[in-house]
Amino acid sequence: MSARPSPGLPAIVLDRKGATPLYRQIYESYRTAILDRRLRAGQRMPSTRALADELGLSRIPVLNAFEQLIAEGYLEARTGAGTYVSESLPLRERAEIPRRGADHTVGATVKNRHVARVVEVLPASQPWLRGVGAFAIGHAAIDHFPYAAWSRLLSRHAHRLTARQLRYGPVLGYEPFREAVAAYLRTTRAMHCEASQIMVVSGSQQALTICAHALIDPRDEVWTEDPGYHGARSALDLVGAKIVPVPVDEEGLDVAAGIARAPRARAALVTPSHQYPLGATMTASRRLQLLNWARSRGAWIIEDDYDSEYRYESLPVGALQGLDRDGRVLYIGTFSKVLFPSLRLGYIVIPKDLVEKFMNVRRAMDICPPTFLQAVLTDFLREGHFALHIRRMRRRYRERRSALVDAIREMLGEEFEILGEQAGMHLVVSLPAGLNDRDVARAASERELWTMPLSWCYARPSKRQGLVLGYGGSNVAQIRAGVKRLSEVIRALRLV
Ligand SMILES: Cc1ncc(COP(=O)(O)O)c(C=O)c1O
Repeated sequence: MSARPSPGLPAIVLDRKGATPLYRQIYESYRTAILDRRLRAGQRMPSTRALADELGLSRIPVLNAFEQLIAEGYLEARTGAGTYVSESLPLRERAEIPRRGADHTVGATVKNRHVARVVEVLPASQPWLRGVGAFAIGHAAIDHFPYAAWSRLLSRHAHRLTARQLRYGPVLGYEPFREAVAAYLRTTRAMHCEASQIMVVSGSQQALTICAHALIDPRDEVWTEDPGYHGARSALDLVGAKIVPVPVDEEGLDVAAGIARAPRARAALVTPSHQYPLGATMTASRRLQLLNWARSRGAWIIEDDYDSEYRYESLPVGALQGLDRDGRVLYIGTFSKVLFPSLRLGYIVIPKDLVEKFMNVRRAMDICPPTFLQAVLTDFLREGHFALHIRRMRRRYRERRSALVDAIREMLGEEFEILGEQAGMHLVVSLPAGLNDRDVARAASERELWTMPLSWCYARPSKRQGLVLGYGGSNVAQIRAGVKRLSEVIRALRLV
């Protein structure tokens, strides 16, 4: 039950049938209100008798709560003058909703400079990160996951659990799993790799963090794609890298622009199979330019191959790693998109002479990956479930992609250009002149539709305005309903 507050006092909610004693509920409500500064220093509290009346309680629990608050210094009793919120509490000002820009971020209050930048992606400051919905990015079609096959394998392994599986596993990961992954990469991604080069990780994000720790020193320059994946920039921020945003065009990363901006960069972070978020495939000529630059400068290329299995108009393109003859490429793959993201399994393919170094970084982070799910997934791969699943999902995602493209054409019209629809699980729709992508995303989020503004993916200010729309996790009806709502949001904004 919620009590009507005395003027100026926050309402408190009491659960009269709950296990927590009433005095404790009153104490906690007021303590939280004081810490949140909803009750201000010096504010007068009602008398315990008046409050007990208002709450419809006997005076005892209110007295007990006030005594506790006074004992802990949240309230102070002034003899003959009543009870007040303590004036001496060292409360910080309430954090404002952070805006973009150096001094206004939540991150600016964090001491460590690198971490301060990372914190900037908090959902509090970006309304489009507050929920998931029809256009969630990176969500797999878990409604079509082969639950029965997966459960069978899980229970098979649970029944055969051995002591070995419960001990610390190898730093690089479970050997049979790494063998299965290496075989998969050689055949489907045209890669040169052995199991001894594969490190199992908890997804691409951990892979990026490990690569950053192993390869980058504070203030080292690193090329990142602009626009690009904010999670990759965060991983680099964590180690204090100096990010050099390099523009992207329809051929992928503009290598010449990177060389002009930072010829001696330590590394380049790229998504060559399916540029995130614009969707370009890096051309062979750009791939070779990038490899030549890395060889001549002794730089590293970190290849984030996060969803290359899904291409709709052609076969998957080979990995950049497969062209590398000089051991300059660190290849990152993940099962988040092809299976499901909470699996938290991915891998890094490491050039042979760096494996030891990566193992040392890994030991410092979490020692080794958990063994059980690697064993389950090994059988899932070996017994053909994985290949079958990918074939089925390719059809499913193509259908969802087409539904989204058709709905955009039909409900938004030709002036909204579609980019990057040939592959993956998201596309970009550019907004015509006069529409600001953050305004659209903000207005859409007020209608429970979360869409990522393209401008947010840029490290440098960009005039290009668009929305990144995921479609993997939504069925055709949800996609159509989402586009309809988006068209209403846009129409309303245009009328203003
Ligand atoms: C480009 C890119 N890289 C990495 C990741 C992180 O994926 P994971 O779940 O494997 O950590 C994502 C997730 O959406 C992504 O879009």
